[in-house]
Amino acid sequence: MIALKDAPSDARICTMTIDGELVEFREGETIYEVAERCRREVPTLCYDPRLEAFGACRLCVVEVEGINNPVASCTTRAGEGMVVKTRTGAVEKHRKTLLEMVASENRTLDIDPLAGYASQELGDLLERYEVGPGRFRGRRSGTSNTDDKNPFILRDYDNCISCYRCVRVCAEQEGDHAINVMGRGFDTQITAEFGNDLRDSQCTFCGQCVQTCPTGALSDKKALRGSDLPGEIEKTRSVCPYCGVGCAVDILSKGDRVVGIHPAMDGPANEGALCVKGQYAFDFVHHPDRLTKPLVKGADGSFREVEWDEALQRAADGFRAAHEKHGRHAIYGIASGRAPHEAAYSMQKFIRSSFGTNYVDTCSRS
Ligand code: SF4
Ligand code: SF4
Ligand code: FES
Repeated sequence: MIALKDAPSDARICTMTIDGELVEFREGETIYEVAERCRREVPTLCYDPRLEAFGACRLCVVEVEGINNPVASCTTRAGEGMVVKTRTGAVEKHRKTLLEMVASENRTLDIDPLAGYASQELGDLLERYEVGPGRFRGRRSGTSNTDDKNPFILRDYDNCISCYRCVRVCAEQEGDHAINVMGRGFDTQITAEFGNDLRDSQCTFCGQCVQTCPTGALSDKKALRGSDLPGEIEKTRSVCPYCGVGCAVDILSKGDRVVGIHPAMDGPANEGALCVKGQYAFDFVHHPDRLTKPLVKGADGSFREVEWDEALQRAADGFRAAHEKHGRHAIYGIASGRAPHEAAYSMQKFIRSSFGTNYVDTCSRS
């Protein structure tokens, strides 16, 4: 039996059978949540664990003993004594046919991984089920809006599969409701209010819709600029340098160039959410105006580059002069929100112990 670990003490624990194996689950969980925990590979497209289950794509169907038709596991609650099969020939055929239909509508199936965090989901499933667009090829839905004049988000609805993950993440995670669904059937279209460009809507350019889109219909314009650079994409886990929340990010790089940012879905402070700065404002890393050497101001007011020893000596002299002339409360230290905790700690220690003042702060404080 697969036992449930770390269940809250007040949770009601039940059992069910998945693919012949007895498993424990917590009352209230869906079949999909139980199956995923038991490492069953149930495919999904409209599912994002951060959002309310929606049941649109039907790829997650499973067989449940006693129920005639396959059920969507992401929206069906697990029940005591249920007997579920996740990978029978019938459900696999069902999923494959659905994928063929989805593929037949999409103009591009080969999506650049820089497009967004989830952009490879459809492509990966097509590969897994060895599905192409051929059998149902015909009329296509979606109207591309690639000329939306915003600097961050490319909207290419020719690749949209109407999973509504973008709409739901905007509403449920961001509370923004900047985008919604217009029309039905082949005329279904994701749109901002009155068909506006995103910059004329309530959009805050948090990028959440881009990162949850499973087809690359929404993609990261800035990251895609790195597509032409040679080399493999590398991911480095880090923390957003902009404020004190401490959102976890995966920095995408090629060679020595930062090309994009993915939110870390398992980041304890942000669980995949980022703001516009954390998501898109990484240009400073390679900006030609970025300082790479210390500068000191000469008597004529102009700056010149110096080595660190000279710069630190100038700073020490300045502190000492201010302290001697105006006293300890003339010194006030502010830690940058981009500094790590250790640097902020060192700054306050330096100000307190060197000058005897508690005038310290950080711009991360909000
Ligand atoms: S744009 Fe992407 S996330 Fe939004 S409905 Fe279409 S496929 Fe889904
Ligand atoms: S960028 Fe954020 S606010 Fe704008 S539409 Fe997407 S999810 Fe909504
Ligand atoms: S993932 Fe369950 S219906 Fe789409």
